[in-house]
Amino acid sequence: MEEKSQEGLKGEYGMTMKWYEELGITDSYYADDSVCIIHGDCRDVVSQLSEKSIDLVLTDPPYPREFGYTYNYLADYCPRVMTRGASLITIVGHYAIPEVLDKFKGKLKYRWMFCMAQFDGIHARMAMGIEVVWKPCLWFVKEAYPQGRGFIVDGFQVNGKGGQEKKNHKWEQDTSWAKFFVGKLARGDNDIILDPFLGSGTTALVARELGRKCIGIELEEKSCEIATIRYLKAQAEASK
Ligand SMILES: C[S@@+](CC[C@H](N)C(=O)[O-])C[C@H]1O[C@@H](n2cnc3c(N)ncnc32)[C@H](O)[C@@H]1O
Repeated sequence: MEEKSQEGLKGEYGMTMKWYEELGITDSYYADDSVCIIHGDCRDVVSQLSEKSIDLVLTDPPYPREFGYTYNYLADYCPRVMTRGASLITIVGHYAIPEVLDKFKGKLKYRWMFCMAQFDGIHARMAMGIEVVWKPCLWFVKEAYPQGRGFIVDGFQVNGKGGQEKKNHKWEQDTSWAKFFVGKLARGDNDIILDPFLGSGTTALVARELGRKCIGIELEEKSCEIATIRYLKAQAEASK
């Protein structure tokens, strides 16, 4: 992982820059020392981010068939901003695995697939006549593989009604999803995580809890509001 400064850099007029300003972000919906939530289209925002500034992309794009194009956004825009050896983890619908792997060809190396198990959940979801009890999470890396024999296992059980409790957002993931990956793949205290499809802010919440930084981008203003309120409530709870 590359060295990053902890304190702000001196900007053009000697002003101390915030950590997210150093990355090229000029406008945020909410920002503090750990988290920066941006209301916008991830293509525009990721294009503004400094090269090689992100240590982990952890995300969950909308994955019904009609949103298949969102995986192009990941494959086309994220590699430039990732550091060497950084990982990109994305949840994907089972049906879309072949086409998503195709979109990443020549952009990032495919590393492995994780089983996000919902075996104890309420299995309301049926797809192509199959009762679905796990979600695939694809793992891509930039240039180099993270080292360490056995440092990660390729499956985990999500909590919260098998990951099907949607208190804040209809597509919300349980925090155990983000905890598993942040804990293993963003192991430096100063690591910066990017979630280009933030939704209700699960990745931001977990990044803060585990002492990492997070840039979260969300297209819908309402979801930015939900993510910010959820995040601030969690901070208030933690400081009681
Ligand atoms: C599956 S949800 C993410 C849920 C999130 N993991 C959570 O736990 O709440 C995907 C989100 O991506 C957002 N989205 C869709 N297209 C986008 C784009 N081009 N840029 C940024 N966000 C986008 C949607 O509004 C939606 O909130």
